Amino acid sequence: MEESDPENVTLITADASKHYDLIYKMFVEKFSQSAPMPVALGATPEDMDKFFKQIVDNTLTQNNSILAYIGEKCVGFALNFIETEPKKSNINPEEDFDGDLTEEIAKNHWGNFPANAIAAMMSESSKNFEYYIPDSKKFFKLRILYVDPEQTGKGIGTKLVAKCIVIAKMNECDHLITIAAAAASAHGFKVVREIPVSAYKQNEKQIFSNLPDGCKNVKLMILKI
Ligand SMILES: CC(C)(COP(=O)(O)OP(=O)(O)OC[C@H]1O[C@@H](n2cnc3c(N)ncnc32)[C@H](O)[C@@H]1OP(=O)(O)O)[C@@H](O)C(=O)NCCC(=O)NCCS
Repeated sequence: MEESDPENVTLITADASKHYDLIYKMFVEKFSQSAPMPVALGATPEDMDKFFKQIVDNTLTQNNSILAYIGEKCVGFALNFIETEPKKSNINPEEDFDGDLTEEIAKNHWGNFPANAIAAMMSESSKNFEYYIPDSKKFFKLRILYVDPEQTGKGIGTKLVAKCIVIAKMNECDHLITIAAAAASAHGFKVVREIPVSAYKQNEKQIFSNLPDGCKNVKLMILKI
């Protein structure tokens, strides 16, 4: 069997005490140079460092993230978080959407434009998403999905998502939610919302022009478990 066969992929639960540095390094150095949003904005690993560190810190407080290995090499991960106290929202995000990120970017939480813009975009995209899962008591959030560019297109991402679903079920989550430019077709996700990337603006100017993966929308996807 070739190394590239997804059958050779081993999935393990991330343990902060063992894998923190590995995940942090891959996320900052590799993800920042291959994910559509940072690439579209020409972000450097240094630009994304603070913001991405916060995501690693938040997700690795729980043992629900997954690493994919081929042999000794880590080739991808899913950074996840289980929310046990979902807030309620009866505000329809479609009606409340404000693509003007000027003010949020100006707060300069992350010290540079690409990180500020991506953080503001992610926050606006997920605002009040609880509207779509009004009865949720516990949900699973797949925050970041990453596969090494040399190993993409072989089903490793799909395997990671499948494992997320297993963990969500094991933890009795009622929904799995994720936001991505790519649409997940394989697992029965429902796309509840699509936001054109052209809708995000700073000083009336579009922030993202063409995403390198050709995706035109950010999708909010929900899987009922
Ligand atoms: C997107 C990426 C993870 C795909 O990896 P891959 O191993 O080639 O993936 P596969 O061929 O197994 O396909 C993965 C599936 O997950 C989907 N997917 C991508 N992001 C997803 C997310 N956040 N949640 C659920 N599914 C997602 C893909 O569209 C694809 O869908 P399908 O097979 O159901 O149609 C990889 O190219 C990558 O890491 N890209 C850079 C980072 C990025 O864009 N991550 C996604 C946003 S956080």
